[in-house]
Amino acid sequence: MKILLIAGSNRRNATSALLLRYMADVLQSRGIEAELYNLYEKPVPLYSPDEAPDDGNAASLVRAASEADAFVLGTPEYHGSVSGVLKNALDYLSSNEFGGKAVLSVSSSGGAVGVSSLTQLQAIVRNLHGINSPEWLSLGGNARQFEANGAPSDAGVRQRAIRSLDALVDLAGKLRPDVVRAR
Ligand SMILES: Cc1cc2nc3c(=O)[nH]c(=O)nc-3n(C[C@H](O)[C@H](O)[C@H](O)COP(=O)(O)O)c2cc1C
Repeated sequence: MKILLIAGSNRRNATSALLLRYMADVLQSRGIEAELYNLYEKPVPLYSPDEAPDDGNAASLVRAASEADAFVLGTPEYHGSVSGVLKNALDYLSSNEFGGKAVLSVSSSGGAVGVSSLTQLQAIVRNLHGINSPEWLSLGGNARQFEANGAPSDAGVRQRAIRSLDALVDLAGKLRPDVVRAR
């Protein structure tokens, strides 16, 4: 099974990206192939429907997404919604890459929880014909702290991260049993 984690912040050391890095490490420690695509490190140009994308980062994002069996999408909560950076990246993608695949939504917010961005992200996933995982994860307020080893400082965040990854992997295995078994 291959899981693509897309970190949707344009900020160095963004907590949403740190959380996705931790989640990728958890998956890899279980022998699951996990790739982190961090849009801060590999930005994609503003999407235009007028022109076929001629950009190395955009091409590698589309390729990684088409190879993935499941996704984790991470966003900072901006004005009660997803970041423009993540939405722009998702505009390069379609049901070709997401159709029938399990997707976990994750947010980081200044407030205690960032649920507005999560509900909107799940609506975007629905329109990409992805399948929303039954769990989601919001990192907020004082829980946005990380240890030197990359793990969230808050034990509750670590537990919820693992529980939400368990649900994603379980759903991905049910949706794509042949593909997942063959890898
Ligand atoms: C433009 C902007 C809009 C924001 N809007 C919200 C908001 O609506 N609700 C909220 O709780 N926090 C809001 N914040 C705070 C961010 O959600 C918070 O700093 C979050 O941890 C950023 O995620 P990051 O660490 O991944 O960059 C906003 C921050 C910025 C820069």
